[in-house]
Amino acid sequence: MKIILLYGGQSAEHDVSILSAFSVLNAIYYNYYQVQLVFIAKDGQWVKGPVLTEKPTSKDILHLTWSTNGASGDFTGTAIQPGDIKEEDAIVFPLLHGPNGEDGTIQGFLETIDMAYVGAGVLTSACGMDKIMTKYILQAAGIPQVPYVPVLKNQWKENPKQIFEQCEGTLLYPMFVKPANMGSSVGISKAENREELQQALEEAYRYDNRAVIEQGIEAREIEVAILGNEDVRTTMAGEIVKDVAFYDYNSKYIDNNIVMQIPAQVPDEVQEKAQEYAKNAYIMLGGSGLSRCDFFLTNKNELFLNELNTMPGFTQFSMYPSLWEKTGLQYGDLIEELIQLGLNRYKQRTNFLTDVK
Ligand SMILES: Nc1ncnc2c1ncn2[C@@H]1O[C@H](COP(=O)(O)OP(=O)(O)O)[C@@H](O)[C@H]1O
Ligand SMILES: [Mg+2]
Repeated sequence: MKIILLYGGQSAEHDVSILSAFSVLNAIYYNYYQVQLVFIAKDGQWVKGPVLTEKPTSKDILHLTWSTNGASGDFTGTAIQPGDIKEEDAIVFPLLHGPNGEDGTIQGFLETIDMAYVGAGVLTSACGMDKIMTKYILQAAGIPQVPYVPVLKNQWKENPKQIFEQCEGTLLYPMFVKPANMGSSVGISKAENREELQQALEEAYRYDNRAVIEQGIEAREIEVAILGNEDVRTTMAGEIVKDVAFYDYNSKYIDNNIVMQIPAQVPDEVQEKAQEYAKNAYIMLGGSGLSRCDFFLTNKNELFLNELNTMPGFTQFSMYPSLWEKTGLQYGDLIEELIQLGLNRYKQRTNFLTDVK
């Protein structure tokens, strides 16, 4: 069977995706699979690369070169249209993070061309990526989260004073202001007063017309990994130990001043609660395949669900695979499980659709 590995992408996490792809290529069971590389360049161009039948020796293989104007040369890939990836007897592994990768758009495209794929479906991806939708769903499920105020750009433009009053009536400074549909901490800022709140909103609206303002809290950050379709499994909790108060883009990807602690040093009840909330949130969001569920934990052991990432960082050293590894599922076996889950969901969906005809 062929795995079509889609990597790169147009989001801020382009480089993270390449690292994840290299890890996956090193762990796939080549006695069952061959891997078709398909790279999405930063400008959105899709590029078909080589088919691998064994582990690559170097990361260089992922950095494809191609021509879009028919020029001849020593290219390692060919510019293609997205629909050209369609093949029988293949499953797509969309190893893409952020907008246009993790937000349901790629997933919808893969449904449209009738291909099996790894990971969450359209609804879960779209809702998991959208911070306002996630909050509404968590609220409906009765899962604790920090207080928040959703604010559309138009509402802000029309009456900033009313928005200030609404925020200050509901929340205390510091507040966290976030574009609803981003990721990687892009466009997120912390506001200590009205002036900063104004700046933070202007910044958020550079990325989205919808923003959410949250109660800022001092908290540890703990995460639980989830795997499964109908049968949902969770891991022990892990902690992201920061030496910075705000886990922003630089600390996530550039400074690397983050340490993972697995298992998280938390009381058993906290861990069990985190697993229960993670599982319920996943089920409410219609999860399939995988997700990483992130929480805030205060020093009074209050737990607040922050978000579900439907395509979490997936290098061998990332939190999601590390949590499974500590739970007894090796990286290669984890990839195999994800492929089987993707195939099962595809079969099930195909049956639902044909039963209707
Ligand atoms: N309400 C909050 N209180 C305190 N810190 C927060 C809050 N919201 C976000 N943060 C900090 O900002 C980081 C990024 O926010 P998050 O909601 O996880 O966005 P992203 O989707 O970009 O990962 C978090 O990991 C945390 O360090
Ligand atoms: Mg986050």
